[in-house]
Amino acid sequence: MKALILSGGKGTRLRPLTYSGAKQLVPVANRPILFYCIDNIVQAGIRDIGIIISPETGEEIREAVGDGKRWNAKITYIRQDAPAGLAHAVKTAAPFLRKSPFVMYLGDNLIGRDIRKFVEDFSKKKSDALILLKEVDNPKQFGVAEVSGRGNIIRLVEKPDDPPSNLALVGVYIFSPKIHSAIDRISPSKRGELEITDAIQELVFMGKRVRSFVLDSWWLDTGKKDDLLTANAIVLDEWGKKDITGTVDKSSRVLGRVTVAKTSLVKGSTVRGPVVIGEHTIIENSFIGPHTSIGDNVRVINSSIEHSVVMNGSEVLNIDRLEESLIGRRVRIVKNSRHGALRLMLGDDSVMEV
Ligand code: G1P
Repeated sequence: MKALILSGGKGTRLRPLTYSGAKQLVPVANRPILFYCIDNIVQAGIRDIGIIISPETGEEIREAVGDGKRWNAKITYIRQDAPAGLAHAVKTAAPFLRKSPFVMYLGDNLIGRDIRKFVEDFSKKKSDALILLKEVDNPKQFGVAEVSGRGNIIRLVEKPDDPPSNLALVGVYIFSPKIHSAIDRISPSKRGELEITDAIQELVFMGKRVRSFVLDSWWLDTGKKDDLLTANAIVLDEWGKKDITGTVDKSSRVLGRVTVAKTSLVKGSTVRGPVVIGEHTIIENSFIGPHTSIGDNVRVINSSIEHSVVMNGSEVLNIDRLEESLIGRRVRIVKNSRHGALRLMLGDDSVMEV
């Protein structure tokens, strides 16, 4: 069994963060989303992994992930020249996949459980595709499945106006090599893409068995700001650890599951977990509240932050209450009491609620 992770795309829904970087590298609890996908694949015993990259963000992905040694896996990068759809990505990866069955995993999806059971089940029972589904409130935004009582797929539609159910395709699929002939038979959709959803539907038309599982854990499509804050909170809640290797001075209080990296300093502050604090960061005379991730090289001084993500290289100075915020890299937020007015420099597509 091989794995194919899709890590191309433009990340328009996460702008401005994704102007300067790949959406799959946006951090959740200080680790890129993509790393959780790789963890999950490796935990299922798969070590031969292809990653689809785009010309725009491919280099950044390669640099972050490397050759896979960190996971004891072998990683092959496959360049997809245009974002022409998920099925097009599989086509592009055909020389890597050859005749192997494979797990396909969308690199911006986070699921709250391991996929080992699905991989084992696929290997045991005869079928040509197994897809993961999840009940959602807003099925129109996803690929949607109509399923028989036994979990076989009857029909699939991509972003339907009139959804046949509330079961969305999660973005984790397992295929036999038959998927390649199904892809050869489909044409681009209304949005001009070769849709994997159409290819799976084609498998059904070809009389092949397509099975499904409804995910019993959480699933987060981290494409948007609030999803990302929710993902951060859930990952900290479930996987956060108490691990303080950095320096915490005597006048500070650290409560609950808090990670402070080795080169960081907490001084005169209260940190209430679950919280993670990266390397070379200083928290001084501040309060860091639950569900907050602070990246590397960050300075938080005389401020209070809760339920937020602050990425590498940013500064938060003299801010009384910062909540539910997603702060990108190298951002400076300063309250200067001498000025009554706001003085801002915000990039394109920034959002500021005062
Ligand atoms: C893609 C798939 C869709 C699936 C979704 C999950 O949509 O086409 O079927 O439900 O991922 O995240 P996209 O994110 O490309 O709009």
